[in-house]
Amino acid sequence: MGFIDLRSDTVTQPTDKMREAMFNAQVGDDVYGDDPTINELEAYAAELTGKEAAMFVPSGTFGNQVCIMTHCRRGDEVLLGENCHIMIHEVGAAAALSGVQLRTLKDKDGEFIISELQEKLRGEDIHFPDTGLICMESAHSTGKVPSLLNIKAVHDIAKEHNIPMHLDGARLFNAAEYLNVDVKEISKYFDTITFCLSKGLCAPVGSIVVGSKDFIVRAKKNRKRMGGGLRQAGFLAAAGLVALKEMRGHLKEDHKNAKLLGELLSQIPGVKVNLEDIHINMVFFDMKETGVNSDDIVRFFYDKLVKISSDENGIMRFVTNYWVTEKDIYYVFETFKEAVKALKEE
Ligand SMILES: Cc1ncc(COP(=O)(O)O)c(C=O)c1O
Repeated sequence: MGFIDLRSDTVTQPTDKMREAMFNAQVGDDVYGDDPTINELEAYAAELTGKEAAMFVPSGTFGNQVCIMTHCRRGDEVLLGENCHIMIHEVGAAAALSGVQLRTLKDKDGEFIISELQEKLRGEDIHFPDTGLICMESAHSTGKVPSLLNIKAVHDIAKEHNIPMHLDGARLFNAAEYLNVDVKEISKYFDTITFCLSKGLCAPVGSIVVGSKDFIVRAKKNRKRMGGGLRQAGFLAAAGLVALKEMRGHLKEDHKNAKLLGELLSQIPGVKVNLEDIHINMVFFDMKETGVNSDDIVRFFYDKLVKISSDENGIMRFVTNYWVTEKDIYYVFETFKEAVKALKEE
């Protein structure tokens, strides 16, 4: 038995079909625009999201940052959630690369408080930066999916003020699956979206930016500036096409397994899981009351061939993915019970 890996959905290996598609891919030089497989992937992604154009980028972080660079001028202000990936996990790139100022809004599970958004929009004043962009995130890093109602309310205000909207949709298809809507029902509220091929969809590398034709032309120039002009990238796009055509449908299994895992874990005394909060493939829980140290449980699990991450601020996160089966979920549950028993006795 190999490892069961619950650290993230970024750990997913490519499927056999992806490997085969990569081996057989027709490629060209994408900086010249003549890689047929990249062109096919970009056209497919644009159509899927109801946008005019798309662009392949090396990562989700790259996609978000190239969008910020393309939407904004130096000194502009970007409004975004205080807990979102761009704010917390992109190494200050928005300041370093685009020279923008980030201004945060409370973002409980990805939703904004409309009155706060209104307060933080800048009026015209010689002292004020221009608000260059509003960014939302869905699914949110808390594993929850903001409602379309909240997104629409933010969108309406953004449009009223003529401010573009960007979505960090690293897990856009998980969000659509949770909401049980076509992805266009989410994408229609945003001028640009980044989504990832290399998370739950299992592609080895890559993300996509979608937007208007004019935006993508400008973003391609910035992608080149950022060192993201890839050459025979069709090998990666070939896997990306399999991800988009064949793997989206599997996400519901990941969500089902996450729910099951949450339900099982909640039966363990001292483990607190809010089952309502399991929207996608992420299970967050608090295990402090088991009396077991989270670093110890990481080591225990590793010895049982399960990779997990330690807690962040006292909260543990398990993430299901394509390579984690229902049988694995029961194994994890049994291992957890064993771990609590063994580590408490130490
Ligand atoms: C919400 C969100 N946005 C963006 C990213 C960045 O993706 P990447 O790791 O490909 O840069 C991640 C990565 O986990 C993410 O969870």
